Amino acid sequence: MQHQYDFDRPIDRRNTNSFKWDIPERHMGTEDVLGMWTADMDFQSPAPMLQTLRERLDHGVLGYTIRGPKYYEIIQNWLQRRYGWELDKDSIHFCPPGVIPAVCMLVELLTKPGDAVFAFMPNYDSLYGAAESMGRRLVTAPLSCSTQGPLRCADWKMDLDAFERAAVENDIHLALFCSPHNPVGRVWTAEELSEFAAVCRRHDIFVISDEVHCDIVRPGVKHIPMGSVPGMEDRSATLMSPNKSFNVAGLMTASVFIPNRQVMAAFRKKLSAWAMTLDTVFGTLAVEKLYSDPACEEWLDQVNAYLTANLEYAADYIAQNIPSIKTYVPEGTYLLWLDCSDTAFRGDALCEHLVKDLKLDLCDGREFDPSRDDHMRLNCACTRATLREALKRLERI
Ligand SMILES: Cc1ncc(COP(=O)(O)O)c(C=O)c1O
Repeated sequence: MQHQYDFDRPIDRRNTNSFKWDIPERHMGTEDVLGMWTADMDFQSPAPMLQTLRERLDHGVLGYTIRGPKYYEIIQNWLQRRYGWELDKDSIHFCPPGVIPAVCMLVELLTKPGDAVFAFMPNYDSLYGAAESMGRRLVTAPLSCSTQGPLRCADWKMDLDAFERAAVENDIHLALFCSPHNPVGRVWTAEELSEFAAVCRRHDIFVISDEVHCDIVRPGVKHIPMGSVPGMEDRSATLMSPNKSFNVAGLMTASVFIPNRQVMAAFRKKLSAWAMTLDTVFGTLAVEKLYSDPACEEWLDQVNAYLTANLEYAADYIAQNIPSIKTYVPEGTYLLWLDCSDTAFRGDALCEHLVKDLKLDLCDGREFDPSRDDHMRLNCACTRATLREALKRLERI
């Protein structure tokens, strides 16, 4: 081990234009609210990458920036090394300024206004929201979690029969997929992906797979990119990013992998039409450094270990001390999906109680599924001390 990172070190993010900490309107007139909602981490990114950006800043000329062959080779090696996925350079494209804008563009490219677009629910709001924001008709099927005993992440299943029925009834040819899944935390197995792929093949469905959380998984859990699932190469766009993995959401950089030549050509044309062909100085540099320097990968291993310990601590704390909330350790992501149905609160009252009385800013479950007015999402990517304080507050629910 080259360097032991100290994720317990508190870093004040207030007054840094932080989306998570600096939106007073979310705090309903109160102060000292803990930001436990949007999915970024309260940790500094890997030191070698910060140093690379610092050196570039010292160079001082921040003109138009391109991606050279090195950029593509580094991504190819990363995919090979971490996912065993061999991808040719022509299947790789950057997607500015992040995963979701690229999802929106792809929805626009692959469907017509009014067409049906599929997503499982609950789901990340900006992902399923891309269907409606592009003027398409969102059709959903549930992820279900039927268990008599304590909740377990692996109990969340895709209802593939409902998906297939919806596909036939609504003439669906495009699905939005989240893997690892936000908010339930599933990392889909090879078998599940292959069954999902079979439905897609039977009904000629193209899949946009949002894999932004792919590098944040529990020990022994393996993420499988959609484009590497047999039979999906030609009918998928897989989106990944260092955003969640290395906590660089503010650099607004991401990649899309589209082996289908026709779709890739159309995507390139669209970016070009919007004059979105150049990258950001720091985004390009960060991707190159983060995906190639073993010291950055070491940081990723260490942060994953810290996040797993945080999630286990939080799930255990809730099980021991907060009987009205049910949760479980997710297989991927750093997000806890909280079932608050045994509390006295729902919907707006639940959100208000959390913010005003407990001074906790969590994600409202209704963002992920309008019917989940009794769920909240807790971001555990913070110092253990902050998490401990948040759980102590939550105990008073
Ligand atoms: C599943 C998922 N996709 C995409 C994003 C956002 O990605 P980007 O900032 O690259 O658009 C998030 C952020 O929370 C997310 O959870």
